Parts: sequence; structure tokens; C-alpha cells
Amino acid sequence: MARIIYVNGRYTPWAEAAVHAEDRGFQFGDAIYEVCEVRDGHMIDEARHMQRLERSLGELKIASPMSRSALARVMRETIRRNRVTNGSVYLQVSRGTRPRDFLFSYATDMTPTIVCLARSLSRSKSEAGAAVGIGVRSMPDMRWGRCDIKTVMLLPASLAKEAAKEIGAKEAWLVDADGFVTEGASSNAWIIDKNGHLITRAVGNDLLCGITRTTLIDLIRRQGLELVERPFTIAEAKAAREAFTTSATAIVMPVVRIDDVPIGNGAPGLLTSKLRGEFHSVAEVSRS
Ligand code: PDD
Repeated sequence: MARIIYVNGRYTPWAEAAVHAEDRGFQFGDAIYEVCEVRDGHMIDEARHMQRLERSLGELKIASPMSRSALARVMRETIRRNRVTNGSVYLQVSRGTRPRDFLFSYATDMTPTIVCLARSLSRSKSEAGAAVGIGVRSMPDMRWGRCDIKTVMLLPASLAKEAAKEIGAKEAWLVDADGFVTEGASSNAWIIDKNGHLITRAVGNDLLCGITRTTLIDLIRRQGLELVERPFTIAEAKAAREAFTTSATAIVMPVVRIDDVPIGNGAPGLLTSKLRGEFHSVAEVSRS
């Protein structure tokens, strides 16, 4: 089936889906995005994703291109047209198109560019991957100072993942100048210590407030588990009982190796796997 991509009001075949060469998203990375899980045909945690999208737009002073419900309709229609049952939906909004200029505030009539695409991901493949877990590679965090905004400036993340792949790892854990893990290249980073405490860095300008992270915290609280929001080092992570990442595409993904050190007995942790199994009992499912 041909993939369909939404671009500025039109649902177009993949090969024809295009934005202007002077789109600010292309020239300046002046665009934000969201990725939302699709499960059994429904968006997961839609309200939280839309809230974060609006926050990202607000922080960059990009005019909201349409109402939250209209954007959600575009996402639903993109999912439908691509017949995605399980997978993800991606929504990107750039500031718009203008002859190249660092300045933009004078261009009050600029119309944001909206792109939406949806992708299938086999549920059984994801589960098989989670049953094995992933390796991560630690490396310096070279990103800018506003990683709380979900911008498309993903080159450092892309390079970090390529470097991780070189040692057979699926994710990179980024380390700040003080030696603490900020987050993964495209996920939040967690460890579980020997007391069963779940540890993840508190949100701030240096990492993304992951929606999966937020919903997992709901689950952790509901279960009466101990959550500690504080930074941790790679050395601490390597000595942890369990480790995992969270993201809309990988949900709760066990980390079984950091650099060349196995975590625990080198297999996915029991609590991690339990949390993964129960995640969707607390996540919001969009019914419309
Ligand atoms: N990435 N941190 C970073 C840097 C991310 O890029 C992501 C998500 C997360 C987790 O956020 P959430 O739980 O809301 O997905 C944390 C998405 C999946 C991506 O870029 O494809």
C-alpha cells in the first residue's frame, strides 16, 4: 500500500510529499514535532502529546497552526489513510517559509508548515526486541541548552545513535559536563538501584519531559514504588540492578548493557519487564 503523507492541508503520496526549499525547518531546524504511539488503531496519551506540542510552539513563539482538535483530526486521518494499527504517528510544525534570514519576528504573516506521517510497527517484533533488551553507549551530550523543547534539531542525536550502532548498541546515553546522564538520544534514561528505587533525572532545560516518562511515573506512584528524580552517573548505571529507557516508540525498553558492561545478569530486569507489561493499563487511549 502506498504511504500517504499530510502536507499543509493535502494528503499526498509519499513520492510527492514536499515542502518548500526555503522552509525554516529545512534551513534553520526551526520546527518542532511530536511522536505518538498508535496501538490497536488508537493514539496513546494524545492529550499529553498535544499539550507538549503546544508548549514547544509557545517556547519558540511559533503561531499555533490550527486548533488542538483539528491537529488531532489530521493525525487520526493520517493513521487511517495509512492503515496503521500498531506503530506511530509523527506531526511536525515548522515556523514556515521565507527567503533565508536569521531574523523572523518581522514576518508576522508567515504560515506554519504542517507535516504528518504514520508508520506501522509490528507489535510482535517490538515485544521480541523488549524480551532481549538493548545495549546503550555512553557519550558526551553535545546538544543545545533547551532540550526541553522537542525541536527537529536532531543531528547530535542522529550522530550519537550512529556511534552507538558501531558497538552494536541501539541507543546512546548522553552525559553532561559534570558526568551525569541527561537522557537517551531519543528516550529518557532510568536505572533501578539495589533497593528497588526507580531513578531518573528530574526534568529541566537539559532533557525532554517524555510523555512515556510522565505516564510511567503515574504507574510507579499507583504501585507504591519508590521514585527518585535525580541525576545519576554512568558508573552508577553500570552498577545498577536494572536499567531501561522510555519513549513513545519503545515504551519501556530494558537496557541490558552499557558500553561493555552487562547490567544485572545481562538479561532484561524483572521490574522493568513488569512495568512494560502494565504501562498501557495507565496510559490514555484516544477513543475517537
Ligand atoms: N523521541 N528524550 C528525547 C531526546 C526524545 O527524542 C524522546 C522521544 C524522549 C521520550 O519522549 P516520549 O516518551 O514523549 O516519546 C526523550 C521520539 C520517540 C523520537 O524522536 O522519535
